[in-house]
Amino acid sequence: ATVRDLAGLEVVVSAGGTREPLDPVRFLGNRSSGKQGVALARAAADRGAHVTLVAAHLEVETEGLTVVRVETASELALAVESAAEVADVVVMAAAVADYRPATVSEAKIKKDDNGDALTLHLVKNPDILQGLAALGREGLTVVGFAAETAPSRDELLELGRRKARRKGADLLVVNSVGWAAGFGTDDNAVILLDSSGTIVGEAEGSKRQVADVVLDHVIALRS
Ligand code: PMT
Repeated sequence: ATVRDLAGLEVVVSAGGTREPLDPVRFLGNRSSGKQGVALARAAADRGAHVTLVAAHLEVETEGLTVVRVETASELALAVESAAEVADVVVMAAAVADYRPATVSEAKIKKDDNGDALTLHLVKNPDILQGLAALGREGLTVVGFAAETAPSRDELLELGRRKARRKGADLLVVNSVGWAAGFGTDDNAVILLDSSGTIVGEAEGSKRQVADVVLDHVIALRS
């Protein structure tokens, strides 16, 4: 039987890929399937937590979970920030767009109006994870992910360390991503860093196994 070691805790997990509309029919998105985030939500629920899943675009089922559906990074920010007010743990596994189109066209963008090249003007989205960590709210454990395309473990670690220090999350889960890694796969391999960039753990296996190791570390951090 699963140990209910998260009983009584309010856990918020974000999952999936945000979609930033360009016009009524097109968006800028990414290849996140939501598998890692949903695995985290299910693991936390199985371990007794009360879980809210804030879901951007998913390619997996969420049956049995409490889900708040969102589309864009701004919507995800609103949903996560409101759920976080009463949360003990927030895990940001969603792949959030760093930039969104500066304007959303009311009508479908036409080739006739643009010729051979079309330039998109993008503006930065607020960093949800950094904002939550900066709150420094007593009792709130903030977990982030770092999705990096790095050719070696050393370079992956270096990028992860920089992100850990910049974002300030209590725990940063670093995973390597690429054309055939991280996004959409059933398995994952991660390095866990604290807010100073020190390695505190590693995990490899199914996304559920990785989720359980991440939650073990959350419990260790809170005790
Ligand atoms: O969904 P899957 O197909 O299972 O794939 C899993 C995954 C690779 C998407 C997942 O394991 C993962 O790494 N998720 C984070 C993806 C991401 O956006 O990483 P990042 O390095 O760009 O962002 C770092 C952290 O900041 C993340 O926790 C992200 O949620 C958060 N962020 C990013 C931008 C932003 N504007 N606000 C944020 O809070």
